[in-house]
Amino acid sequence: MNKIKILGIAVAAVATTVVITSCKDKRSTGWEYAPNMYEHIAYDPDQPNPNFKDGKTAQKPPQGTIPVGFVTFDYPNTKDGYELAGTEVKNPLPQTPASFEEGKVLFEHFCSPCHGMKGLGDGLVVAHGFPAPPSYSSGQSSRGGAMKDLSDGKIYHTITYGLNAMGSYASQLAPEERWKVIMYVRHLQTL
Ligand code: HEC
Repeated sequence: MNKIKILGIAVAAVATTVVITSCKDKRSTGWEYAPNMYEHIAYDPDQPNPNFKDGKTAQKPPQGTIPVGFVTFDYPNTKDGYELAGTEVKNPLPQTPASFEEGKVLFEHFCSPCHGMKGLGDGLVVAHGFPAPPSYSSGQSSRGGAMKDLSDGKIYHTITYGLNAMGSYASQLAPEERWKVIMYVRHLQTL
């Protein structure tokens, strides 16, 4: 009988403690198992940090640094940058059927609405009044020369920066995807 009484008191005490501690602070996480999981010793990016002069944890990267894997394109959005890219920049990807096929799909999604499925400048939005781009195979570039002679670098420059009515595709197409699209555009130039 006594044992049961003691047990009853113990259970009541634990229950009361649980009720009291859980209600004390609404923002409290309560009892934490392995709290280092939550309250780690590393600084969070938005935490003040006495180890740096400006007191912030998130430091600006040093000037001139780039994220790992970032591909640079050091040609400005000017006629000179376009011409220079046209002679210096070559497609770094090997010509494989898989890359070509992927380029075709990307072209059909991103470029054909204006340029048309065969690159003739007769896409669907052109049929609705959008200014027609010149045909890749028979048109003339507004920057001079025949469209069929546009080099890898000139096309890459155009996709990266856009040109007049054509916007930049830099945020939609990663550099490798641009090169795949270019493989397909080079094919359309020969049609
Ligand atoms: C919104 C319509 C539109 C889309 C989408 C579009 N273009 Fe264009 N593109 C144009 C127009 C218009 C021109 C002609 C611009 C000029 O010469 O003023 C052009 C020109 C070009 C040229 C010729 C550049 C030069 O040097 O003369 C290339 C190459 C080109 N586009 C490639 C692409 C590729 C690749 C895509 C898809 C990633 C694409 N375009 C998507 C409208 C578009």
